[in-house]
Amino acid sequence: MKAFSRKLMLVLLALYATGAIANPPAAFEGRRLYVSYCLLCHGADGKGDGPLAKAMKITPADLSTTIRSRSDTILTRIITGEGKQTITGRERHNLLSEAMPEWKEVFDDAQIQALIAYLRFLSRKKHDLMGDPEHGLELYQKYCQVCHGVEGDGDGIMTNLIGIMPMDHTNPNETNSLDNQALMSSILDGKGRYMPAWKGILSQSDVEALVSYIRLLSF
Ligand code: HEC
Ligand code: HEC
Repeated sequence: MKAFSRKLMLVLLALYATGAIANPPAAFEGRRLYVSYCLLCHGADGKGDGPLAKAMKITPADLSTTIRSRSDTILTRIITGEGKQTITGRERHNLLSEAMPEWKEVFDDAQIQALIAYLRFLSRKKHDLMGDPEHGLELYQKYCQVCHGVEGDGDGIMTNLIGIMPMDHTNPNETNSLDNQALMSSILDGKGRYMPAWKGILSQSDVEALVSYIRLLSF
């Protein structure tokens, strides 16, 4: 009896861990911040074509290409506005002008890291976000987390109970190798023995939202 209740306790703890205290993935959090603070100038895809871009004397950078060569440390300096002249250790005044706002009073360290994760997503993604990841997060926590795990790496509570191995959604090679259509079909039609078919339970736009959310799990 004692052993049983201990086991139950562990299961409950694990369930608690999959639910209430789940933190959204960094790139997901970063997208939220990006949409509110950066999209206006840098545009939805980071290409520097946001609604305010035309009004600016200095064109906002195309982040989908420029940030590839920049380390996290440099990006942190650029975003916070600290060290505009020390970007490469040399004097490069024109690299960043006053036109890029300084955000050091606005974001804490975790938020800067989240923003950087999303910038990495923008520069490395092979497939566009087709739906609304915010809606995707809700659906994922409700229907998918039990198997795919809180962070999407495939260690959900159900995997211990019935010994299954879901796809690791945090591996960008795995998820990038599948286009949006392929991910949608797997979700709608199911796969193998244990990946259920969600047709009839989830709508087309639900599945698009889920695919978008899954794409953000690997950054
Ligand atoms: C008011 C418009 C504006 C907003 C809002 C804005 N930026 Fe910028 N950003 C710019 C401009 C303009 C540049 C290019 C500056 C230059 O070339 O001197 C730039 C450059 C950058 C660069 C450097 C690109 C590179 O690698 O050379 C990064 C990174 C960047 N912005 C990130 C962000 C992030 C993250 C946000 C949101 C938190 C943001 N920006 C919000 C205007 C903006
Ligand atoms: C009962 C456990 C379970 C649940 C619940 C579950 N999955 Fe899966 N999922 C799996 C397993 C197992 C695989 C691996 C299937 C295989 O490759 O044979 C998988 C694979 C996948 C794949 C990869 C398919 C491919 O083409 O390789 C995607 C995408 C996916 N699941 C999305 C979801 C989404 C979205 C949800 C929630 C709506 C969900 N899963 C819910 C178990 C589950």
